[in-house]
Amino acid sequence: MIKPRHFLTLLDRTPAELQNLINTAIRLKDERNNGIKHRELDGKTLAMIFEKSSTRTRISFETGMYELGGHPMFLSSRDIQLGRGETIKDTARVLSRYVHGIMIRTFGHERVVELAEYSTVPVINALTDSFHPCQIMADMMTMQEKFGKIKGLKVAYIGDGNNMAQSWINAAAQMGFHIAIASPKGYWVDYDVVSRAEKYAEKNGGKITLTHHVEEAAENAHVVYTDVWASMGQEEESQKRIKDFQGYQVTREVMNLALKGAVFMHCLPAHRGEEVSEEVLESENSVIFDEAENRLHVQKAILIDCIGGI
Ligand code: CP
Ligand code: NVA
Repeated sequence: MIKPRHFLTLLDRTPAELQNLINTAIRLKDERNNGIKHRELDGKTLAMIFEKSSTRTRISFETGMYELGGHPMFLSSRDIQLGRGETIKDTARVLSRYVHGIMIRTFGHERVVELAEYSTVPVINALTDSFHPCQIMADMMTMQEKFGKIKGLKVAYIGDGNNMAQSWINAAAQMGFHIAIASPKGYWVDYDVVSRAEKYAEKNGGKITLTHHVEEAAENAHVVYTDVWASMGQEEESQKRIKDFQGYQVTREVMNLALKGAVFMHCLPAHRGEEVSEEVLESENSVIFDEAENRLHVQKAILIDCIGGI
């Protein structure tokens, strides 16, 4: 059997393929703005499994499938047997008999990997504890729109070494830009993710810097990025994390260390007054809603790429 065209991390495609997805997304955005309709996924159904909450991911995937002529099926793990202990491998094989693609948001990354292993239709990662590749695709598309390129830019990521930070590492390694991550002690990204990405970075001209110093990361950056200090599933650690992350808020002063014309990005949802000040979030340099919009366009490109041909 031919392996389905899964999209689990940014390492699942070549740099040229990732660039192609971004170019397609920009074209789809332009065509949507000009009222051009699409039917690439006519007759195709996407199962969308959510084991965590979502606003952007759910709505952009549902709208994207609909706009491509396909059918999105929202499946909360609270309502399907997966939430009552049915195994991932059985769920994968059952859903594969009905639908043309499966999108999943879950906890451990190994759940997505197992789903993909047993599924005979493409699986798309819509966030795990380790990676959020669809978000970073939208962010890179936003970089391309703002700066006309992705290669050679510097992205400063200030905060938790979480799923967003780890996907940024893969993105920089693949697309040839510099990711500089400033995190407090005890909150660094996984060493395994870095060492794997380093091999790609060497080949593609990417650079990965890890530091405890916000200034070192932010200096001369084109993009300053942050994310929540407590991700989904870490709610009980919130108070401890607020203490541990003091000094890691993106403020006007931090933005001033970046290049003139630098943009502020955040995957959202944001916690004003924690990882970012209200002033920066609402500033002219903030492109947070462009990023959110671009989820729709880039995921349409990913959907066509994964399930358009089956
Ligand atoms: N950025 C993002 O994935 O948002 P949601 O959690 O609302 O889907
Ligand atoms: N790091 C955040 C991202 C949300 C889109 C989380 O996992 O909750």
